Amino acid sequence: MSAPNKSFDPKQVSALSSESVDEMVVEAIAALSSASDLESLKVARLTHFGDRSSISLANREIGALPPAAKAEVGKRIGEAKARIKDALESREAELTQIRDNEVLLSEKVDVSVPVDRLKRGARHPLTTLMERLCDVFIAMGYEIAEGPELELEWANFDALNFPKDHPARLMQDTFFVESPDSGVVLRTHTSPIQVRAMLERELPIYVVAPGRVFRTDELDATHTPVFHQIEGLAVDKGLSMADLRGTLNHLAHVMFGPQIDIRWRPSFFPFTEPSAEVDLKCFVCLGDSSAVDCRACGGEGWIEWGGCGMVNPKVLRAVGIDADVYSGFAFGMGIERTLMFRSGVSDMREMVEGDIRFTGAFGLEA
Ligand code: PHE
Repeated sequence: MSAPNKSFDPKQVSALSSESVDEMVVEAIAALSSASDLESLKVARLTHFGDRSSISLANREIGALPPAAKAEVGKRIGEAKARIKDALESREAELTQIRDNEVLLSEKVDVSVPVDRLKRGARHPLTTLMERLCDVFIAMGYEIAEGPELELEWANFDALNFPKDHPARLMQDTFFVESPDSGVVLRTHTSPIQVRAMLERELPIYVVAPGRVFRTDELDATHTPVFHQIEGLAVDKGLSMADLRGTLNHLAHVMFGPQIDIRWRPSFFPFTEPSAEVDLKCFVCLGDSSAVDCRACGGEGWIEWGGCGMVNPKVLRAVGIDADVYSGFAFGMGIERTLMFRSGVSDMREMVEGDIRFTGAFGLEA
């Protein structure tokens, strides 16, 4: 700030002349009112009304004026500052209003829109997998067959050629309803649907039957007392093991990819003759016998999938089909095993517990 000035020099204080103060005001008002938002208004305020603005610098000069001039110039500058301040405040009010309107619009919430607070559910991956398996057979001309979960012991065992003293009939394997001699069981496999299909349908028969089955197993990583199978049955003239093999190979290729073949191991089921266990080539080591500790198959190279065989002529006869004219093949696969294999689920309990973090990972397929 300049030192007090005894001799008033009009040149030195020309910045305080009425014209130049007016000019400052006009400039300041023009800048303030052309600011297009609060940000640029701030810049204009600092330039035209801040400590280093012309009007502030002029204000500081007042002290240096001779007393005679102080009052007049002080009034001029004071009025000028008031006009600039008015312009600043009114532009600030306008721009604040504009900004608030924009915020209101951009943050608009329509409180009348109905909201869905419930998370969308997903169908269980076992269900969608069963449908996918069925689709493979529908595409080959098969139909879907059904049977009851609470099944006649006759359909579950007798008609399928299980002898009266077969160990599978014992209570440690089978859930009997009421008493063991009630003649009713929770079906232990989907094979009784074969019996029902042959009794109810015209020949030839091509059916698949997905469904829930029950065995008195404890729940652990590889067992559950309630699980799912998909049963297949074809009865026609001239069917052979080759047709069965081709059908299962096709299923494996469609479900898991062309590199996943099947293999058979000789086995026994009372209702098929000959019978075989069906294994899938391990999807991790692809059957490479040098992979001794493959995490998926434990070095086997193959993973058990289900059972199959040619329908035992005794079963055909039990349901009134001429076994000299017709032959059939049948198979039954575990759905849980298929899901474990296909999606790398290592613990069966995850499929049972109903935790949506498990099912959600398969996608919200409707
Ligand atoms: N029902 C048999 C099981 O549960 C599987 C099977 C089905 C075997 C059809 C042969 C033919 O183990």
